[in-house]
Amino acid sequence: MTPAIRTRELTKDFPVGFWRPRPYRALDRLSIEVAPGDVFGFLGPNGAGKTTTLKLLMQLVFPTSGDAEILGRPVGDVGIRRRIGYLPENPYFYDHLTAEELLGYYARLFRMAPVERRQRVTAVLDRLGIGAERRLQLRKFSKGMLQRVGLAQALLNEPEVIVLDEPMSGLDPLGRRDVRALILELRDQGRTVFFSSHILSDAEALCSQVAILAKGRLAAAGRLSDLQEFAVHGWELVVSGVPPHVLDRVRSRVRSVTAITGDRYAIDLPADARPEQWLAELAAAGATLVALNPIRETLEDLFVRRVSEMGDGGRPATATRVPRRGPGPGSAA
Ligand SMILES: Nc1ncnc2c1ncn2[C@@H]1O[C@H](COP(=O)(O)OP(=O)(O)O)[C@@H](O)[C@H]1O
Ligand SMILES: [Mg+2]
Repeated sequence: MTPAIRTRELTKDFPVGFWRPRPYRALDRLSIEVAPGDVFGFLGPNGAGKTTTLKLLMQLVFPTSGDAEILGRPVGDVGIRRRIGYLPENPYFYDHLTAEELLGYYARLFRMAPVERRQRVTAVLDRLGIGAERRLQLRKFSKGMLQRVGLAQALLNEPEVIVLDEPMSGLDPLGRRDVRALILELRDQGRTVFFSSHILSDAEALCSQVAILAKGRLAAAGRLSDLQEFAVHGWELVVSGVPPHVLDRVRSRVRSVTAITGDRYAIDLPADARPEQWLAELAAAGATLVALNPIRETLEDLFVRRVSEMGDGGRPATATRVPRRGPGPGSAA
């Protein structure tokens, strides 16, 4: 099956500094594959290189080395551009236009005929919940409303592959929930959604696959359920009303016993313990179950650990200067 998105050793150096520009490696040999129909979370802390990767996919910047394909064709392929939707990180629009005018303008860029244009613009505005405000100038829009306009623009051409840069950032909880629902709806329509985020809980709620980027490098990738790090590695059993002599007996056989409040205790059991047996034993002695929780690493933990494992040597600036290129389409940075 042709991947919806594929990058191979994709690398980007930016020249930094004015008098003596030196290359700064924003993205270091990234190789990932996104299967069609997936919701793929591209995760990493600020500065990890997520936006750079998305810009490389959209040809807003050009790679230092390596390459990328969308729907089996090189990213530059003209026919492919029409099948992709893109939401930039901080969408900027002409703020004297109305939402309707702006989308009409993009629809013209997609060469839609007038009737189709009106239908599509109305349909996406309706879908994104932009009502009568569609006739207001964008400068009167809140951040959340502008984000909706950006999403409407990204979906205008009914794209097969949708690339969203931090689609949930800056939104209130209701806005986040709406964007989540929209992403799942797009998935149910068979589209591929590739989105970047530094917010891990959003990814946990949405993604079948993730790639974690740290300091420009791939730190982990795969199905969330397959990542070994998320296996259960212990149990937290919270009980109340355990008689003191029973508690003393328990202490020597578990990893730890922590007093919480009053007569509540948290008992930390190893991964191979049978929590049901412990519960039965404690209940027989008069204890009451308060909670039983599997202990597993969260995406957050993984993230922090991988980033710290990479240490400071994570992003060496290459020693050589970035070769100067002549003016032309390849020289954009
Ligand atoms: N045009 C640029 N010139 C120089 N450095 C850049 C440029 N764009 C991004 N960078 C640097 O590359 C790194 C990755 O940035 P970015 O891709 O925006 O990260 P993210 O989106 O994950 O927060 C950052 O350290 C950033 O400062
Ligand atoms: Mg970014």
